[in-house]
Amino acid sequence: MQTVQEHLVRDNYPPRVRVVEVSPRDGLQNEPATVDLATKVALIEALAAAGLGTIECGSFVSSKRVPQMAGTAEVLATIKRIPGVAYSVLVPNLQGLEAAIASRSGEIAIFAAASESFSQHNIQCSIAESLSRLRQVADAAIASQMRVRGYVSCVLGCPYEGAVALDAVVHVAKELINMGCYEVSLGDTIGVGTPRATQAMIGRVVGEVPIGRLAVHFHDTYGQALANVLAALQLGVAVVDAAVAGLGGCPYAPGATGNVATEDVVYMLNGMEIETGIDLEKLAEAGRAISKALGRESQSKAAAAIISQGRRVAHIDP
Ligand code: HMG
Ligand code: MG
Repeated sequence: MQTVQEHLVRDNYPPRVRVVEVSPRDGLQNEPATVDLATKVALIEALAAAGLGTIECGSFVSSKRVPQMAGTAEVLATIKRIPGVAYSVLVPNLQGLEAAIASRSGEIAIFAAASESFSQHNIQCSIAESLSRLRQVADAAIASQMRVRGYVSCVLGCPYEGAVALDAVVHVAKELINMGCYEVSLGDTIGVGTPRATQAMIGRVVGEVPIGRLAVHFHDTYGQALANVLAALQLGVAVVDAAVAGLGGCPYAPGATGNVATEDVVYMLNGMEIETGIDLEKLAEAGRAISKALGRESQSKAAAAIISQGRRVAHIDP
């Protein structure tokens, strides 16, 4: 009979994980109260100081549709940048790309959906129209020496249609890679996925896109996000999107809650001896500060434990 250790050896955990911090964009885009410039800048600078190497700082989208992101240019003009950190922005079209170039963002994220209804609600066009628009954006960004990351939304369910065909997820992921995205993040926008569904979805996508170019992006509506991250790591995914304090949500995904909390991801990875380069205590402090500024409780259990005990919680080795 196989021992537990022998069984674990078959898992494909990566030795190092890159955490992509999305709280300044995904986290703040859905906040009901206005978040001022100083708070956004302090958040980004605290995240960079904690060791996050890729930070999505905001978006250049229609401010009528997503008012919280209206100040992204000011945010990028104000932050003190640490060399080597990628300060990325989300853009939907060429107008957004122009703003990103003017703001000296070295990296953009473009986004499409695997669900037609979500695409229409989120960006007012079909999936096919969005892909042809994004191809122009990617071409122009790459010509300007920018790095381009892609998102596929609704990979495990859609707020309007329910189930989403995995063929659509594969198709959009492949298109984003073909237009030059260095990486595609698979988004469970409404947080309905569970670990087996996650593995089945990734299993289909890796038929067309190498695992080394995939990231995962889980919202935590049903409390499954950390389990889904683990399920993705078991398949060898080594890039995880997360938001400090579990902030997040999409204005066009009603009922969806925040992203998996960065503190919880880093606590888990530390305990599994998977490197991230992130200082968990500084990260928890960044989460405490933004939660206080927003007047809301952090959604991170690890952060609550660290802050209440005033020190890092010891890991118990197996
Ligand atoms: P549209 O109405 O088709 O665009 O919207 P348009 O080109 O006809 O322009 C309409 C107006 O928007 C014009 O202004 C444009 O100037 C303005 P007006 O003349 O009416 O005053 N506009 C812009 N303003 C600033 N920056 C721009 C821009 N483009 C147009 N780049 C559009 C299409 C995509 C612009 C719109 O639908 C939009 O902005 N949608 C917001 C989408 C969004 O930000 N959603 C949340 C992020 S996605 C997400 O959260 C999911 C993710 O986290 C992964 C996951 O969880 O799955 C990434
Ligand atoms: Mg999201």
